[in-house]
Order: sequence, then C-alpha cells, then structure tokens
Amino acid sequence: MSAPRRWLVLSVRDRSGTAHVSELLPEALRRLGGRGAAEDEEGGFVAYLPDLEEVESFVEEARREMESFTGTSSLDLSWRWQEHEEWEETWRRGFQPRRVTERLVVSPSWVDPKPGPGELVITLDPGVAFGTGEHPTTRGSLRLLDRVVEPGTRWADVGAGSGILAIALARLGASHVLAVEPDPLACTAAAENLSTNGVEAVVELLHAQATPDLLDRVGPFDGIASNIECGVILSLLGAYRRALAPEGELVVSGILHHEVEGFLQEARRLGLHLTDEDREEEWWSGHLRIQD
Ligand SMILES: C[S@@+](CC[C@H](N)C(=O)[O-])C[C@H]1O[C@@H](n2cnc3c(N)ncnc32)[C@H](O)[C@@H]1O
Repeated sequence: MSAPRRWLVLSVRDRSGTAHVSELLPEALRRLGGRGAAEDEEGGFVAYLPDLEEVESFVEEARREMESFTGTSSLDLSWRWQEHEEWEETWRRGFQPRRVTERLVVSPSWVDPKPGPGELVITLDPGVAFGTGEHPTTRGSLRLLDRVVEPGTRWADVGAGSGILAIALARLGASHVLAVEPDPLACTAAAENLSTNGVEAVVELLHAQATPDLLDRVGPFDGIASNIECGVILSLLGAYRRALAPEGELVVSGILHHEVEGFLQEARRLGLHLTDEDREEEWWSGHLRIQD
C-alpha cells in the first residue's frame, strides 16, 4: 500500500487552558489515527491523518470523541490539507539525533551520528510510522529494555510501528526478534528501517494483528516488548504470559498513570510481577517477570 496523496492536518486547542486536558490532547489525536502528534506554536496540538472522504462529518465525530476522552467541551478544532511530500519534509526538519540512554542513540538516516565507544545507534527514517524516539512511551520502553536484554535471547516486539524497539533489541544482543505490526504503512517503514540498520537477519517482520491465537503459535520468547495502548495490552496479557519462557521478561508501555493500578492487578493475577518501572509525562512503562 502506498502513502496517501495528501494528509488531513487536524489541529486542536483547549479554550479553557486546563493543564490536564492539554496533556491528553496528543493521545486523543493518536486515538483518532493521527500520526506525528505534536504541539504547535499557539499552544495547541496538531496531527496528520491519511486522506479521507466526508471531512466535515469526520471532524465533528473527532470533536465528540476527543471531548469524551478529555472530559471537556471546550475544544476548538480546525483542519487543512497538506500534500504528502511537504509533510515528510516538515517532519524531517524537526527530527534530530537523540540520546535515550547512555548506550542507545536514535538518529535520522540523513545524519551521520559518529557513534562513540560502546554507543548503539538506531537509524530511523520517520516516514509515517509511530516510533521515532520522540514519544515518552518509546523512550520508556528503550530505557527499560537497555537494562533487561541479555545477549543471545529471543524476543517479540508486539506493535512494532517503525521497528524502533525491534532494532534496539537486535543492537542490545537479542539473537532473534519477531516484530508484529498490523498497519501496512508502518510495516513498509519498518522493513526499510530494518534494512537501513542491517538487522534483517535478526529481526523477522510479521505483518499481522497480534491475537491470543497468533501468540500461542509463535512463542516461546525470553522476552516480549509491547508498546500499545493499555486496553490492547490487557486483551493480550494472558497470551503474553503463555508465550514467555519460564524466566521470561515482559516490557510494556502505552499505559497512562491512572491505568497502572488496574493493569498491575491483572498482571499479578496472571503471575507477572513488577520489577522495574519508568515514568515520563503522563506515561508509565513497566518491566515484569514471571513469578508463580
Ligand atoms: C504506540 S505504537 C508503538 C510503536 C513502537 N513499538 C514504539 O515503541 O515506538 C503501537 C503500534 O501497535 C500497533 N498495534 C495496535 N494493535 C496491535 C495488535 N493487536 N497487534 C500488533 N500491533 C498492534 C499499531 O499499529 C502501532 O504501530
């Protein structure tokens, strides 16, 4: 599937200026399928959605969904079209090398990062897939994985997006990574990123939606990394537990602070216990281990 010819650029601003509403707006845009959600110069947020028909009714529905998600009725929405290449150029300009841990550095492909001793560089073209290192959930996952991954282990990256975590797993020494991603555009970007990083021999890309059935067939893994929204992780948590080897590690992200308690309760019920955690902005990431 090719990239859309043009993108719907959707902007949203909270008239009431309430801090916790503004914090939720990037996530509200992502839930609508928006990519590259970022703050604009006027204190609002903007995201890019693939070309669609009936834009007026879509924007009205988007307003209802975002107001329900943020619990406010004070959102101003506006939109415009942007040609595909113009958008990628805009994103390219804003995407710079970023050190995420002492070892892990994420760098765009048009910059030569000159790795220092012991540094592990993940080279990425942002394209249209989630996972550039610009989001707290990606960074939280990377920080935890850096402390967890043992060389020679077998991992799954469920919800691979751009492939950033799968590439990090390969750089950290995993011997095999199964990267599962249902979005065709993200898969195309991930395949390119795997090739740019020369990790195709280690990372196997599976274009599929992860379901309990699928996970039951592809394990066991020494570790699973999964940065998806909490509801999806919870629906797959039992299958993650079954797909893990006895000493298996689970690194999850995409969980909001208010969702953590419910998530950990379900994890404990399944014999998964928290050993490490990471917080950035409103996002929580966790490292869990099997303990019956
Ligand atoms: C938040 S992004 C994470 C991307 C990348 N792993 C990162 O950490 O930046 C979540 C990804 O999960 C994918 N996804 C959603 N539901 C899924 C499912 N049931 N199975 C596999 N992937 C899923 C989405 O298409 C999206 O690319």
